[in-house]
Amino acid sequence: MAKTILIRILFLLLISSYTQVQSTEEGFVSINISDKGLDFVKELLINGVVSSLIPLQLPQIEKSVQIPVVGKVRMVLSNITLYRVNVSSSIVKPGDTGIAIVASGATANLSMDWKYTYSTWLIPIAVSDKGSASVLVEGLDVGLTLGLKNQRGTLNLTLLECGCYVRDICIKLKGGASWLYQGLLDAFEGNIASAVEDAVSKKIREGVMKLDSALQSLPKEVPIDNVAALNVTFVNDPVLSNSSVDLEINGLFSAKGEIIASNHRHKNLRASVSSKDPDNMIGISLHENVLNSALLVYFNADLMHWIVDKIPDQALLNTARWRYVVPQLYKLYPNDDLKLNISVSSPPIIKVENEGIHGTVHSDVTLDVLDTGDVIPVVCI
Ligand SMILES: *[C@@H]1O[C@H](CO)[C@@H](O)[C@H](O)[C@H]1NC(C)=O
Ligand SMILES: *[C@@H]1O[C@H](CO)[C@@H](O)[C@H](O)[C@H]1NC(C)=O
Ligand SMILES: *[C@@H]1O[C@H](CO)[C@@H](O)[C@H](O)[C@H]1NC(C)=O
Ligand SMILES: *[C@@H]1O[C@H](CO)[C@@H](O)[C@H](O)[C@H]1NC(C)=O
Ligand SMILES: *[C@@H]1O[C@H](CO)[C@@H](O)[C@H](O)[C@H]1NC(C)=O
Ligand SMILES: *[C@@H]1O[C@H](CO)[C@@H](O)[C@H](O)[C@H]1NC(C)=O
Ligand SMILES: *[C@@H]1O[C@H](CO)[C@@H](O)[C@H](O)[C@H]1NC(C)=O
Ligand SMILES: *[C@@H]1O[C@H](CO)[C@@H](O)[C@H](O)[C@H]1NC(C)=O
Repeated sequence: MAKTILIRILFLLLISSYTQVQSTEEGFVSINISDKGLDFVKELLINGVVSSLIPLQLPQIEKSVQIPVVGKVRMVLSNITLYRVNVSSSIVKPGDTGIAIVASGATANLSMDWKYTYSTWLIPIAVSDKGSASVLVEGLDVGLTLGLKNQRGTLNLTLLECGCYVRDICIKLKGGASWLYQGLLDAFEGNIASAVEDAVSKKIREGVMKLDSALQSLPKEVPIDNVAALNVTFVNDPVLSNSSVDLEINGLFSAKGEIIASNHRHKNLRASVSSKDPDNMIGISLHENVLNSALLVYFNADLMHWIVDKIPDQALLNTARWRYVVPQLYKLYPNDDLKLNISVSSPPIIKVENEGIHGTVHSDVTLDVLDTGDVIPVVCI
């Protein structure tokens, strides 16, 4: 147990590659998502939207056209399916209003069935024909702006703006007297383009709502083990700068199911340890209170003592080995085994200063003699 706590604390210390002093409000852990991190999230988002988009069934399109002499021509496009989207370039940019994501010059492939009927006084029977067609959408531009706010400790993601614009569309017919109807079908380009635009915008709206509810369902407290839990409540609104997004979470450890004493909240200038590498996707800064809250929880849970009764040179843990150094001990307890009882007597304190991390640990070490079944404390250091 003691070992795992030490490893955990070491891990916390290792994340810190240098220290800095900063003043912020209430969060004790700051997360700085760099442009690299944002790019990564953007790729995930786009891939998510694209894979939720396909295959996408668009509503059937019908059109009746009155053609002089020929009469009324009725055309129906059905089973219009968007089955492939290729987003080749996209950017993400945090700004004052929100996080803007723009994907431009994407291409999309659609397939559809077409049907065509008309009747005229020239021929007594109705004429009809049908076939399939492939549609290539070129220059599909999509832009959206996401708002990110803190709402009672969770992040609220909203779609502030969303636009989708199809620049160019190309329909190729297969089957039927295709060559004859190609011209007529081209009249549908506008309809198909707006159907694609509507469908893509709708999917993005749905995707953002799903992402928002995923954020809403994030826990506010993460259990670390059966002793401690980490408070991951978001504090303050995210700060969107030119190329990064900064989030703050409370970040304090508390005993499971317990609300931490508020005297931990110093809102003055605070020191913190942080990892910052321009190549990182995410930079994390920890305030010293995070480390201290962890130590306090484990101290209060009575987990900071160790009994040393096995060492590589086991003979050292016997009074016989010390008979010439401490003859009185050997005289009182000849050839008895020894053990060390190390207890941390008050919560350790970690201070983060500009030059580094300083820790203060007050501990009691007791030397116990195991004499015929009794444990006798003999030395207290
Ligand atoms: C976050 O990191 C970026 C660069 O990676 C930096 O410009 C920005 O100031 C950082 N924000 C904070 C609050 O440290
Ligand atoms: C719709 O089109 C797909 C291929 O594009 C085809 O496999 C499917 O059978 C069609 N569905 C209907 C109802 O015609
Ligand atoms: C997507 O488009 C780009 C260029 O527009 C092309 O290089 C790439 O191969 C395409 N990807 C797929 C899967 O078709
Ligand atoms: C999509 O359309 C383009 C252009 O017509 C074509 O080159 C490409 O093979 C199509 N992709 C698929 C998967 O059918
Ligand atoms: C998120 O914020 C928007 C507007 O700011 C609000 O309409 C919506 O109800 C909020 N969502 C939640 C889950 O509170
Ligand atoms: C934003 O980034 C541009 C270059 O991308 C830079 O010229 C500008 O000074 C930056 N603004 C701020 C407020 O950092
Ligand atoms: C977690 O942090 C939030 C914000 O600082 C605070 O309001 C809440 O009481 C904390 N929860 C616990 C269990 O300490
Ligand atoms: C170790 O020492 C502490 C006080 O220093 C004492 O409470 C505890 O009982 C001791 N443990 C053993 C196993 O002797």
